[in-house]
Amino acid sequence: MSNISTNFKTAIFVVVFLLFGALCSGCVVLECWFVQEKPGRGGGFSAAMSQEKSLMYIRTNLDSDKTQYKPPSDISPSRIYYVTDPSATFCRSALHPPEGSVTKPQCEINPFTPQASMVKWAAALTNSAQSPVYLDANWFSVAAQGLDGQLTLSNLMRASSASNEPNVILSVTSKTASVRSRMGEPVLLDCGFWVDPTSPLHGSGFAVEWRYQFRGEGRLVVAYDGKSDRFAETSETGVDLDISGLYERGNASLVLEEAQVRDSGTYICTIYLPHLLAQVAMDLEIVEPPSLAIYPSPLPFSVPGQVVSVHCEASGFVPLTLDLGWEFTGADGKRRHIDQGSVTGHRQASDGTYSQSTRLELEPTKLGLGRGGEVSCVANHQGGSRRASVTLNVIGVSAPSIEDSMAMVAVALVLYGVIKVFFWTFSSVDTSSIDSKDRKDK
Ligand SMILES: *[C@@H]1O[C@H](CO)[C@@H](O)[C@H](O)[C@H]1NC(C)=O
Repeated sequence: MSNISTNFKTAIFVVVFLLFGALCSGCVVLECWFVQEKPGRGGGFSAAMSQEKSLMYIRTNLDSDKTQYKPPSDISPSRIYYVTDPSATFCRSALHPPEGSVTKPQCEINPFTPQASMVKWAAALTNSAQSPVYLDANWFSVAAQGLDGQLTLSNLMRASSASNEPNVILSVTSKTASVRSRMGEPVLLDCGFWVDPTSPLHGSGFAVEWRYQFRGEGRLVVAYDGKSDRFAETSETGVDLDISGLYERGNASLVLEEAQVRDSGTYICTIYLPHLLAQVAMDLEIVEPPSLAIYPSPLPFSVPGQVVSVHCEASGFVPLTLDLGWEFTGADGKRRHIDQGSVTGHRQASDGTYSQSTRLELEPTKLGLGRGGEVSCVANHQGGSRRASVTLNVIGVSAPSIEDSMAMVAVALVLYGVIKVFFWTFSSVDTSSIDSKDRKDK
């Protein structure tokens, strides 16, 4: 009996294992757009692009059988690719949402032309004049974006001429397609690369480049020339690229030690191989909620009919969008919005953060605020909500109640006591210090 159940377990295990193996060895499909310049219109100012539906059948090794694929008829057979991807980056789950998902990953294939690199830190890779025969093939560049920014990828594929069975040769991926950070915190911009170990380009050197781009402006952040093991000179400080990780795991991630407002923007990680390059871009956004200061604090007592003026300053926030308002919380604990504050224009500090203030001219009686409560300045910001409060006391709204009279008597008594104690301490300290002086003298 126990034998049978053990066998049964083993059978299940084998089936699961086989299924898993089948999934891993390929059988995944990726829908892509094949985009290229329209042929025959060279030299135009902006070349027209053509876009065709395309399909990539991915397997991670050549062993899996390709006859199992049943390409749909609405896609031209020349745009069906049987891709071998030993890096398995095309198989990552972010590119394969569950069946029936509304949103789909984005994928685009472009023809790619190998060429010698122009940048200084990659120039050494192609020093040896002629480009190898190996490069004379059909090259494709595939850019794909997974769902929810979990993965962005750029793969270079090579197919021997006239075949539609390309192999992934270079893969560059990032898990941080969009990053959000507070100021002063370290930021990891992920970038990893993989080079086909069977390719003749493997081991013939690489270069890494990180560029920053924001509203048309760009600068070099870090460039590492692997051929001469040298960093290019940049003015950038506080950035770190781990060289051992680069060689051991293809980890080209960039660390910004302390995020600043000026670091917001797009970062592009480019990996160069001789005559090839692939790059991924990621966005960094610095988000810092405001600090609030409310004044005067405490508020002076006010009498009915008097206008109370309260200021609130929100500072140190970024980005600029801020919703600044006022609320009143009565003695009954009920909160209400006060629709009256006037908000000033914003200012920008030298660290790039913004400040903005609001002033409230409050007429407690008109607004029916009774004998007072809590006046709060409320700021809603992408980085979080903040609130600062002061107590509003309106005196003489009605005749003092018994409690008020008793409180007044109590206050008078306490005051009297405090004065008494104060005088007593004062005189006793005085005498004691004289005493000790006397003793010292003796
Ligand atoms: C890559 O390197 C960074 C540090 O430079 C590290 O924080 C990160 O975990 C590494 N990623 C992987 C996948 O090893």
